[in-house]
Amino acid sequence: MTESPAPPHTGDAEALRERALAALLTARKRTTLLTDSVDDHELTAQHSPLMSPLVWDLAHIGNQEELWLLRGVAGREAMRPEIDGLYDAFEHPRATRPSLPLLAPSEARSYASEVRGRALDVLESTPLDGGAALVRSAFAFGMIAQHEQQHDETMLITHQLRSGPVALTAPEPPRAVDAPVLSAEVLVPGGPFTMGTSTEPWALDNERPAHRREVPGFHIDTAPVTCGAYRAFIEDGGYGERRWWAPEGWAMVREHALEAPLFWHREAGQWLRRRFGVTEPVPGDEPVLHVSWYEADAYARWAGRRLPTEAEWEKAARHDPTSGRSRRYPWGDEDPAPVHANLGQRHLRPAPAGAYPAGRAPCGAGQLIGDVWEWTASDFLPYPGFAPFPYREYSEVFFGPGHKVLRGGSFAVDTVACRGTFRNWDLPVRRQIFSGFRTARDL
Ligand SMILES: [Fe+2]
Repeated sequence: MTESPAPPHTGDAEALRERALAALLTARKRTTLLTDSVDDHELTAQHSPLMSPLVWDLAHIGNQEELWLLRGVAGREAMRPEIDGLYDAFEHPRATRPSLPLLAPSEARSYASEVRGRALDVLESTPLDGGAALVRSAFAFGMIAQHEQQHDETMLITHQLRSGPVALTAPEPPRAVDAPVLSAEVLVPGGPFTMGTSTEPWALDNERPAHRREVPGFHIDTAPVTCGAYRAFIEDGGYGERRWWAPEGWAMVREHALEAPLFWHREAGQWLRRRFGVTEPVPGDEPVLHVSWYEADAYARWAGRRLPTEAEWEKAARHDPTSGRSRRYPWGDEDPAPVHANLGQRHLRPAPAGAYPAGRAPCGAGQLIGDVWEWTASDFLPYPGFAPFPYREYSEVFFGPGHKVLRGGSFAVDTVACRGTFRNWDLPVRRQIFSGFRTARDL
């Protein structure tokens, strides 16, 4: 069984240079939108103790770019060594960041743009074939574009948590084409498949290396669990029945008096939710969002099902039974286009279940990429043969039973940070992230 061959456009150094340039420019355009859409007061305010002030993310994006591209790749001197500590995510937890002497919005903007100007010169002048692993295949540039896009997703979460007038708007996602005839689940037959990647040029350390996994046959939902289905769990008293919950999940429900996903509330018998400053009726056909792993796990148990393991999820998303290969994406090897998946903040919500027929996997499951991050049953663990790169703090320090894996990306994830192999992880109590899930069952 072989790994997907690298598609032709990722094959040569000059194509990767172009790709890195495009990815960096796309990321900065989005960062600018997210930080220019609110005033300086909102940029420096902390909208939730769970999040950094937006101005911290902005300068941190510039600082990481300076560290990796200007100092790491080009060997330059630090531009402002005194600020490194302020923007070190490991040194300062999010809750304490507002009390730091952070760069003011105008300083943060000019620092990030000065770094960017120099980084583009480095990208233009650095040989990308051969040489150090950091520059081979433009890895460091791809990593920095992914880093910026991941912070853009974090900043979008901050936008969702903030109160005040609407700051962001976007067109509605496409409607579902055949929701009424979608079968609820599809079969993924048992057998081995290739999980992870050894060839995707910008895959991060935790996605590597490609390896064979034996996965027994299972059924998996055709689409992520919808708000309508989740509402049935709520209305059946799901949040009041201990038997559906893992012990820690039950403790969380009791401690915080949870009764619905984050941002939902009931008014005059109707469920409403707040979404980027707008209060609206909960849409029944849309994948449920802002649920913790514990809520996903409890729903699945209530439904007589379970969460898929990470290997099951990836097999459903990538395995092509005709060729025996694992695809880069459910629809094939080509990069995501708007017809395939709801990615890149083009829309500010998931599309209804049954949308994106062109993005379905060979097994028939849809919306595996985009829309909502999908919780899996699995802990975040290294693959056999894992090697930390380019630093231990990227993944290795998070491995273990404390973090659960999420797959597939959300509407808030850019294509550069989304692949069939991409792994996200978070604490099982997290709800402010753009998280949903689908369920599975044994044969
Ligand atoms: Fe970061």
